[in-house]
Amino acid sequence: MTQRLIIVGAGGFGREVHDWANDAIAAGAEWSIAGFLDDNPHALDGFAMPVDVIGPASTYEPSDDEVFVCAIGEPQIKLQIAKSLRARGARFTNVIHPTARIGQRNRLGEGLVLCPYSVITTNVTVGDFVSLNLHGTIGHDATVGDGCTLNNHTDITGWVTLGEGVFMGSHASVLPYAKVGDYARIGAGSTVLRSAKPHTTVVGVPAKRLPTVTSLAKRAA
Ligand SMILES: CC(C)(COP(=O)(O)OP(=O)(O)OC[C@H]1O[C@@H](n2cnc3c(N)ncnc32)[C@H](O)[C@@H]1OP(=O)(O)O)[C@@H](O)C(=O)NCCC(=O)NCCS
Repeated sequence: MTQRLIIVGAGGFGREVHDWANDAIAAGAEWSIAGFLDDNPHALDGFAMPVDVIGPASTYEPSDDEVFVCAIGEPQIKLQIAKSLRARGARFTNVIHPTARIGQRNRLGEGLVLCPYSVITTNVTVGDFVSLNLHGTIGHDATVGDGCTLNNHTDITGWVTLGEGVFMGSHASVLPYAKVGDYARIGAGSTVLRSAKPHTTVVGVPAKRLPTVTSLAKRAA
């Protein structure tokens, strides 16, 4: 039975996910795209999309013939909205572009977005609500926690562990065996050698922690 696919988030990534889902439908996925959930009813004004915003995610009541996918970049907001929809009975599906490559012996969660030319190799564990954007790769034996947002060309190498809600900017890399804590942010083009602590932002090659406002104030005192 064809299911109605609803995309949560009508921003730029949402419009991309719409197009990747259309490619998946052309390749055999049994959905019809019903529309977007977004707090801004005008989010798609001027973008000439074939479907519109059908309501805000915060109050939407899912039906049995609907499946959902989250197209929100900020991990904390993504997880909060996804969990709240799930608590109201929403079922999440994986939008996997036909050009994405997935090896064997992987454990994959639900609500995933695997964009064009992304790759998950082998013996990988991926939680729920993870997005792997264009040309991103997750290497052998890596673990990726719920809600991670992995932007274009991110490179997660072998045996890496990413906690929950990690954000990796475009072209960021994590070297083998490195561990990245929950809700850490890795800047675009940065390389984590060994570890990044939870709730920190790290940038550069090798990636170093950005000072927080509190630590700067302490240093100045
Ligand atoms: C890391 C990041 C999240 C930090 O954002 P922020 O907290 O707003 O930080 P700021 O822009 O205020 O920058 C703070 C400092 O870090 C430096 N910095 C920021 N991002 C950097 C990066 N990726 N690499 C190296 N240095 C970086 C800035 O130059 C600045 O240095 P300064 O204090 O010496 O001037 C952001 O810069 C980033 O890389 N985002 C990823 C964007 C992306 O790839 N999006 C993809 C989806 S479209």
